[in-house]
Amino acid sequence: MAASRTPAKFYSPLAIGAPEPYRALPVRLERMIHFVPPHNEKIRSKIKDIAGQVDVVLGNLEDAIPADQKQAARAGFIAMARDNDFGSTGLWTRINCLNSPWMLDDVTEIVAQVGNKLDVIMLPKVEGPWDIHYLDQLLAQLEAKHSVSKPILIHAILETAEGVNNVEAIAAASPRMHGMSLGPADLAASRGMKTTRVGGGHPDYGVLADAGSDAAAKRAFYQQDLWHYTVGKMVDACLAYGLKPFYGPFGDFSDAAACEAQFRNAFLQGCLGAWSLHPSQIDIAKRVFSPDDKEVAFAKRILEAMPDGTGAVMIDGKMQDDATWKQAKVIVDLARVVAAKDPEKAAAYGL
Ligand code: GLV
Ligand code: MG
Repeated sequence: MAASRTPAKFYSPLAIGAPEPYRALPVRLERMIHFVPPHNEKIRSKIKDIAGQVDVVLGNLEDAIPADQKQAARAGFIAMARDNDFGSTGLWTRINCLNSPWMLDDVTEIVAQVGNKLDVIMLPKVEGPWDIHYLDQLLAQLEAKHSVSKPILIHAILETAEGVNNVEAIAAASPRMHGMSLGPADLAASRGMKTTRVGGGHPDYGVLADAGSDAAAKRAFYQQDLWHYTVGKMVDACLAYGLKPFYGPFGDFSDAAACEAQFRNAFLQGCLGAWSLHPSQIDIAKRVFSPDDKEVAFAKRILEAMPDGTGAVMIDGKMQDDATWKQAKVIVDLARVVAAKDPEKAAAYGL
């Protein structure tokens, strides 16, 4: 068995003066992680407006930011964090990856200047628990040095073949772990997949129906979800350790229907949100990652019919027992978190 810390050490701060790690994640609604390029002044000037429409604002410093704009993006993020009150909206940043020339300054400058405003650092291209341990220790030292009062969490992007292999050890690496996002674009490259897309399906990935007796008849072809396996593996690793799983980016902004279908598959499999890279994807994520009104109504009926969560009852011809009671509770608990933020949904849910 690999050596691991004792429970007491696992939950101790990694630097004298750093805040105590959380024992359970703070309850927050994170249906969409909205990416903004912080070096863009026009976007920065609208950040108050944007923050009011989304659950999480993320200042992106990594891929999609040109090399000659990396420092401007970091400075822009610090200004954006310092000059705005984000209220109940989460404030995250995606730093550059560990072997890049920018990562160390990203972390040290951001924690020094706006560490008390930052909720989560998204770490790209995580390959194993060693990546988390390094950032965990560094953050504890910086938190102590700069009197940061609550722990800054780590969200890993699962986007290399090695990372997928080690997904469970990554989830288990630290109480600082918030969750994970699937990064389908880098993962496709790392795995040698034969695609040129940022997430979503592929028209050639599917199954062909059996040939019937009429040899000339056209056989149906059903496209499949390319990400099903990885999302399932990530959801199991995350939920086993009390972390939050997310679908990542969907790059075809012109295909809202396909984006919605990809997000919904992830939601049904257990994910709690996805990235919005374009304003049009904010409402898609809001719609998909807020439980459906009818599902909530049915889930409430299950909970009401089984007050202590045991036994079996029939509702509309369908058997309910302890296990469906637990499913219903997942849906109603999430609906309550949505309702607390969104009065319209609260009314639709009757909560
Ligand atoms: C996200 O970073 C991706 O590579 O898909
Ligand atoms: Mg990536």
